[in-house]
Amino acid sequence: LRQKYIDAIAGAADEAALEDLRVAALGKKGEISLQMRELGRMTPEDRQVMGPKLNALKDEINAALAARKAALGDAALEERLRAEWLDVTLPGRPRPRGTIHPVSQVTEEITAIFADMGFAVAEGPQIESDWFNFDALNIPPEHPARQEHDTFFMSRAAGDDRAPHVLRTHTSPVQIRAMQAQGAPIRVIAPGRVYRCDYDQTHTPMFHQVEGLAIDRDISMANLKWVLEEFCRAFFEVDGVELRFRASHFPFTEPSAEVDIRCSWEGGALKIGEGNDWMEILGSGMVHPKVLAAGGIDPDEWQGFAFGMGIDRLAMLKYGIPDLRAFFDSDLRWLRHYGFSA
Ligand code: PHE
Repeated sequence: LRQKYIDAIAGAADEAALEDLRVAALGKKGEISLQMRELGRMTPEDRQVMGPKLNALKDEINAALAARKAALGDAALEERLRAEWLDVTLPGRPRPRGTIHPVSQVTEEITAIFADMGFAVAEGPQIESDWFNFDALNIPPEHPARQEHDTFFMSRAAGDDRAPHVLRTHTSPVQIRAMQAQGAPIRVIAPGRVYRCDYDQTHTPMFHQVEGLAIDRDISMANLKWVLEEFCRAFFEVDGVELRFRASHFPFTEPSAEVDIRCSWEGGALKIGEGNDWMEILGSGMVHPKVLAAGGIDPDEWQGFAFGMGIDRLAMLKYGIPDLRAFFDSDLRWLRHYGFSA
């Protein structure tokens, strides 16, 4: 009997098995309990011999149960420690860091430079009404400039014959929105996405422009010239930038000028501020009185200048990036190469 229980306890796999053994031996109807009950019917001599033996056996089994229980507990702890073991000295898994896209980088640079000159940032929708994108900017429906814009049109429901909305073809509609929202005086820039149906090495159907607008009582073309020169000096980080104002035409400015920057293309490398080449970088002019009126501003009291330039193009020039199309291919190798670290 003793050996049977001692062996069984030593081999018990878990606490439930131990409890079964305890009940089988020492429970109310356990084998040993039953034998103890027999003691009463024994002769005194037999009882004197068997009593201590059974008590000792009971103690021994209790001790074996306790020892086995402790051993099982230790084994369980060992197992947990083994399973949950961590090597804190292992190197971390590498988490590749993204880069800042050149367009975002350059937009921030431009915004910071104009902020120093007192220009706040204004915004407008990319899906724009025909009126804001064209009419309000003095481009009526039959104006030839409309054809030059390679416009994407939104579709209207069948039977709705109002002019369709467009994907804005330039940031100039934000001029009107800013005038309507703030009234004069105004000093804002409006960076953002614009769309034209065009695709080659220097054109993508979506690109970025930044618009500038300054309106006050006596703003002149001289102010425009100073602001643009100051901007180019800061942006290209060249003291001797030279700009060339070339008479031009935009329906929303009068007079209008396109602005070129002096540069050289020696050995395929572009250098700003030296050489004998000129590169066009923006369009500008004095805001047309009809445009001021469309923005709700009295052209007899206020006047101002506006300009618009391509952000992607400025990024290409400043950072020597050759193909505009690659800007929007989402090729990670390109983004790692031309991107900026945060
Ligand atoms: N909106 C013009 C364009 O997209 C640029 C421009 C803006 C010209 C403001 C003059 C004044 O080409």
